[in-house]
Amino acid sequence: MKGIILAGGFGTRMYPITLSTIKQLLPVYDKPMIYYPLSTLMMAGVREILIISTPKDLPRYIELFGDGSHLGLDISYAIQNEPKGLAEAFIIAKNYIQGENVWLILGDNIFFGDKLEETLMKVSKRKEGATVFAYRVKDPERYGVVEFDKNGKPVSIVEKPKEPKSDFAQVGLYYFDKKVSAIAKKQTYSERGELEIVDVVKDYLKRGTLKVERMGSGYAWLDSGTFDSLYDSATFIKVLQTRQGIIVCSPEEVAYRKGYINKKQLLKLAEPLSKSSYGQYLLNLAKEK
Ligand code: DAU
Repeated sequence: MKGIILAGGFGTRMYPITLSTIKQLLPVYDKPMIYYPLSTLMMAGVREILIISTPKDLPRYIELFGDGSHLGLDISYAIQNEPKGLAEAFIIAKNYIQGENVWLILGDNIFFGDKLEETLMKVSKRKEGATVFAYRVKDPERYGVVEFDKNGKPVSIVEKPKEPKSDFAQVGLYYFDKKVSAIAKKQTYSERGELEIVDVVKDYLKRGTLKVERMGSGYAWLDSGTFDSLYDSATFIKVLQTRQGIIVCSPEEVAYRKGYINKKQLLKLAEPLSKSSYGQYLLNLAKEK
C-alpha cells in the first residue's frame, strides 16, 4: 500500500502570502500544514509516500523530509508541472504505485477525531474498490457532493453542484485499488480544464465498488486553503492542544507510537527542536514510561 500527498497548485487564493512561499508549508499553529496530511497517512499505516508538487516547490519539501527514513518512512517526490486536476496524481504516480492500493490526501486537508486511526486502518485493509469520506458541511456547493439513497447507499457524486442534493461533501482523502491509474487515464478534462477526482470516483460507483464512509460530528475536517480557513484551522488546533496538552498530527509522535522509530531516535529528532513547545512535547513523550 502506497500514499500520495498532492501538495502543488499555485496558491492564488492566498496571494500575496503565497507569492514567495508554498501554501502547504505555511504554519497551522505550531507546525507546517503538510505535517497534518502526512500524519494522517501514517495513521492509516502507510509508510511509502509520494509527495507531488510543482518544480519550483518540490525542493522545499525535499529539504524538510529528505527520504523520510528519520520517521521510519520511505518518501519519494514527483513533479506536477501544472495543476491539471487531482486525478492527474494517479497518472504521474503510475509507475510508483506499481499495482498496489493507494491513498491520496490533499496537502491542505486536516483531519481530527478520536476514531480516526481506527477508521483509516479499517479502510487500509480493503483489497478491492474505492473508499471516499463524506462530511456534513454548511456550504456543500464548494465541494464534490455525495448523494445517498434512503438506505444510505451513495447514488451520485457531483463536483461543485449549483443545487447540491445533500449536505455531504467529499473530503480530500481517498483510497483506491490498483485500477486507479488506468481509470484516471481514460478520463477527459472538465470545463475547468482539470482531470476531476469525482470522475474517477464515479467510475467506481458505476461498477458498484465504491464505499463511502461518513465522518460524523465526532470528526473535524478542515481545509486551509483560504485566509479564513487557515485562521480557523490554527485556532482549532491551538484550542485543542492548549486545553488537552496534546499535539495534533505530529509525524514524530505517530512514528514513535506506531513503532516506526524507537525512543533513542525520537530523542534525536526532539533535541534540535527543544527550544519550542513542540520539541519539549516530544522530549516529554520520549521520557514517558
Ligand atoms: O477539499 C475537498 C475537495 O477537493 C473535494 O470536495 C472536491 O471534490 C475536489 O475536486 C477538490 O476541490 P477543489 O477543486 O476545491 O480543490 P482545489 O483546486 O482547491 O485543490 C485542492 C488542493 O490540491 C490545493 O491545495 C491545491 C492542490 N492541487 C490542486 C490541483 C487541481 C494540486 O496540487 N494539483 C492540482 O492539479
